[in-house]
Amino acid sequence: MKHLLKMQDLTREKLLEILDLADQLKYERKHNIPHRYLEGKSVGLIFQKSSTRTRVSFETGVYQMGGQALFLSSKDLQIGRGEPIQDTARVLSRYLDMIMIRTFDQKEVEDLAYYGSIPVINGLTDYCHPCQVLADLMTIREHYSYLEGLKMCYIGDGDNMANSLIVGGLLAGMQVSVATPEGYEPDDTVLDFAKDYPCFSLTTDPKQAIRDADVVITDTWASMGMEEEKEIRQKAFQGYTVDDDLMSLAKPKAMVQHCLPAYRGQEITDKVFEDHADEIFEEAENRLHVQKAVMVLLVKGE
Ligand code: CP
Ligand code: NVA
Repeated sequence: MKHLLKMQDLTREKLLEILDLADQLKYERKHNIPHRYLEGKSVGLIFQKSSTRTRVSFETGVYQMGGQALFLSSKDLQIGRGEPIQDTARVLSRYLDMIMIRTFDQKEVEDLAYYGSIPVINGLTDYCHPCQVLADLMTIREHYSYLEGLKMCYIGDGDNMANSLIVGGLLAGMQVSVATPEGYEPDDTVLDFAKDYPCFSLTTDPKQAIRDADVVITDTWASMGMEEEKEIRQKAFQGYTVDDDLMSLAKPKAMVQHCLPAYRGQEITDKVFEDHADEIFEEAENRLHVQKAVMVLLVKGE
């Protein structure tokens, strides 16, 4: 694996290898077994959007593996003043060993990888959020001990999370059902990927999508950068709140995942959130372990 730019970069085998290594690193951390795979390595973390989990889990993850993490806010970098990503890529490649980038346009991430000469990890774009979905799959697998055949249901905006969950879930052998309002469907490239999988379905009816689901996932209705659309979206997403009524249609012990930050009373009720808080915060913790696994494989060039 040279980069992690989107879920489509992964094969089923590579996906499972990342999850296995993440489980191992989680175990090692719990038992204070050192795993200093990044000794002497520097990892740049470029942020053009806000972050709590991604920033802190990458910074501490690099530290735990003996490396140095550099938080690079676009407000301070020359990127913020218009320096092209092509030049930034070639400069940073001469100082660093790996880059994680969170930005708007997927093309910027692809360009960073193309023009640079070091591994690049996508820490969220408008198009996808692979690190988060790897953490989700890790958490679901921990809960059920397997992924194949489980039904994943996503209800909400066809955003970066939806795009990555569809690809990740299908690669893992899950059934994936998605409900979005009309006009808020996942990206065409993702629907094109999914069309070869009979176990994928897309509907505008959340009740239909959630029926017999083993895991129910949602996300904010207005992603970062879409704040101006908040009110229009709140109207468009009426009926898409994950509440007890919807949950009653899923399997009785269905788990719930949310990448966070969550907006209670909108995409999920406070009750459903709190009933499933342990699963949701385990998911947040697993960002740390799964990203460490990704970095280990990238640094080894595997
Ligand atoms: N889920 C997630 O990526 O969180 P942050 O935006 O806080 O990094
Ligand atoms: N879809 C959300 C995910 C946040 C982690 C966003 O892009 O803001």
